[in-house]
Amino acid sequence: MTSTSSIFEVMRPTRFSEFVGNARATRLVQGLLSASIRPGLLITGPYGSGKTSLARLVARAIVCERPEAGDPCGLCDSCHYTPRGTSSWGRGISVRNCADYSDAQLKTDLMDSLYASAVPHVLILDEFHRAKTKLSDQLLTWVEDDSANLVVLLLTPFANQVEPPLVQRLTSIQLNNPTMEEAVNFLLRARDRMGYSVSDCDVVEICEANAAQLRACLNLLHAHAAETRVGAVSGT
Ligand SMILES: Nc1ncnc2c1ncn2[C@@H]1O[C@H](COP(=O)(O)OP(=O)(O)O)[C@@H](O)[C@H]1O
Ligand SMILES: [Mg+2]
Ligand SMILES: [Zn+2]
Repeated sequence: MTSTSSIFEVMRPTRFSEFVGNARATRLVQGLLSASIRPGLLITGPYGSGKTSLARLVARAIVCERPEAGDPCGLCDSCHYTPRGTSSWGRGISVRNCADYSDAQLKTDLMDSLYASAVPHVLILDEFHRAKTKLSDQLLTWVEDDSANLVVLLLTPFANQVEPPLVQRLTSIQLNNPTMEEAVNFLLRARDRMGYSVSDCDVVEICEANAAQLRACLNLLHAHAAETRVGAVSGT
């Protein structure tokens, strides 16, 4: 039996066309990527709407050595690079959770931007509403400094808890849960890719029960598949 985290990994979009719903937000991001995305984005939206997934796509699209029509190739060294002991999704990408992140750590991360050459250093700050005010102040100084080769991606469900000067400097990307139809199609793909034996009817029910919130839908699909398997083995 695979773990729940593997269904999340399998279903994480690897190109922009795989990002479900949010067509306007996706177009805006792609437009910025082809022009200039600095100093960065404030990505907001409910839990499970794809903030982390979008941030990973954007970050990889920035650092990728051979992007294909704006999508990260997923094959080059930069897309794959994972240093030991640190959280990274690719070379030049730092991923931090603000629940457990000090201003000293931020300083170290920001200093990396000074050494970034052609490709900017991408700093992803997740759960940004949990950041201390001091952290926001420090970040603001760097975001205002044009010489730093830095792209920051702030992720939070609570845009109103981010300091207004930071909000003004960044481009706001608001994500929403997809439509029911989009969620059902996504979940049918997840079922087939994972090889789960769950009926179409049950997939629709799962989406309705979770109001098309994709992470919750994936969770329940995984649980349902496990339950069906146990039922099959025990003959119930
Ligand atoms: N808009 C989306 N498009 C494609 N997959 C999504 C989307 N939103 C969520 N998912 C799926 O749900 C999982 C959780 O999404 P995640 O990006 O971690 O959400 P958030 O960071 O907003 O809580 C991901 O692994 C992905 O498979
Ligand atoms: Mg997240
Ligand atoms: Zn690449």
